[in-house]
Amino acid sequence: MNLDQYLPIHVTLQLTLSGMKPEIIFGFADEKFNPEQPYGKKPGEINLVVKDGSRQLILVSLGQQEDFEDHTVREAAGLLGRWLVDHGITDAEFDFDASLLAREPVALVKMVEGLESGGYRFLTYKTGKKAKKNRPSLAMVSAIEPEFKTGEINRVLEIMAAVNLARDWANEPANVINPVSLRKMVADLFEGTGVSVKIVDENQLSAMGAGGILSVGKGSATPPCYIILSYPGKVAHANKKPVVVIGKTITFDTGGYSLKDANNIIHMKLDKCGGMDVIGLLLAADRIGLVTPLVGLVTVAENMISAQAYRPDDIIRTLSGKTVEIGSTDAEGRLILSDALTYAQNELNPGTVIDLATLTGGVIIALGRVRAGLMTNNDSLAKALFDAGQRTHERLWRLPMDKEYSEMMEGDEADLKNVSGSREASAITGGTFLKEFVPDDMPWAHIDIAGTADTPKETPLFCKGATGFGIRLLLDYLTHQ
Ligand code: BES
Ligand code: ZN
Ligand code: ZN
Repeated sequence: MNLDQYLPIHVTLQLTLSGMKPEIIFGFADEKFNPEQPYGKKPGEINLVVKDGSRQLILVSLGQQEDFEDHTVREAAGLLGRWLVDHGITDAEFDFDASLLAREPVALVKMVEGLESGGYRFLTYKTGKKAKKNRPSLAMVSAIEPEFKTGEINRVLEIMAAVNLARDWANEPANVINPVSLRKMVADLFEGTGVSVKIVDENQLSAMGAGGILSVGKGSATPPCYIILSYPGKVAHANKKPVVVIGKTITFDTGGYSLKDANNIIHMKLDKCGGMDVIGLLLAADRIGLVTPLVGLVTVAENMISAQAYRPDDIIRTLSGKTVEIGSTDAEGRLILSDALTYAQNELNPGTVIDLATLTGGVIIALGRVRAGLMTNNDSLAKALFDAGQRTHERLWRLPMDKEYSEMMEGDEADLKNVSGSREASAITGGTFLKEFVPDDMPWAHIDIAGTADTPKETPLFCKGATGFGIRLLLDYLTHQ
């Protein structure tokens, strides 16, 4: 499959200056390109300069030198990507500045990340003028040939295509993506790749006794399933246990009989972001030839209301054998994940398990949309993931798991309850509930992406909607293992 359609900016590499196309030059606000040609004050601010009557210079500011941070290049390039797409500039040259490269050796990679992310739009359903425009094409031009690392650029382009595919799929509405249609889309996507696709369907889930996911999916016309994506890694690692990444994939979360109100139900098509990010992760892993083996467990259901739907007060038996009393049908994510955690241990031989889930509104109250919540039983995994978050700017913050939080989830009639009954520490109690399904010696991390998987307003790197959060983070973690 050709993923180029997911790259809004088409970056090509070229080592000579040709001159007639608009030329993009980055610079700090406190420098001047020449005395008449200043850079804007804020990162990403663009000043257009016409030189020699015809040649256009696009001066992109990196902000003040003293404010320059690890992420500044991405933000400036993100705003530039949006600007190029909005202005329909389809052909430009990017003049890479040696001083910037000296200061930021990975600036070129961050620049491409920013451009491809900032230029992304969800245009699938736009018709007429707003339909997909020609993609801008940028040539990288540099005087400093050795600094050009074509392989690195191609690698980041593959990753960004996968991120943008995950964003596209997450942004699809629930009348298009449901647990049945998704299976077919995934099978088509990975056809002919190094990733194998296995479906565990409702009958098999039933035979196994996966009461968590089955209960959540019962109210929907489209039955739940697991989509298991296996990437073997490189030969030398064939015997290494895979990292298993589980993605919460609720194609729509009505809340069930604990129905969400009109303000909270809107955008619940995005409750599948964890799974879409896992799909993007496996796609990227294959395209870049990741060394370590990786398994994606996409755990898919739709949380609806019907005569078949599960109810508050129901007591269900999960795949682990533990029983759970349902305090809220809206706390469905932890039910599907609890079975997936058991399944991963029983069937997938994991070295490490990581789950990505839009699990709680509480994590948005705790951390806003800046950092995702990290909960883990393993300090070195915590550090490795935290550091990957700092490098990729998909930032995490660790939340505690003291036993008092676990006590809040003890059941009255069953082993556990799926809600504590109070709003206190609700992001944490979501995580401690999951912990009950993980053996202490299994390195496990839960990443609550409810605040970061999508953005309700435009930011330098993202238009409204899904962000693909977690793909760059986990690829970075996996490559630094
Ligand atoms: N999918 C939601 C969490 C969510 C909320 C994601 C807002 C994105 C934005 C989840 O299934 C849910 O409804 N969680 C409840 C749990 C509560 C009942 C303990 C919540 O956070 O309110
Ligand atoms: Zn819910
Ligand atoms: Zn949910």
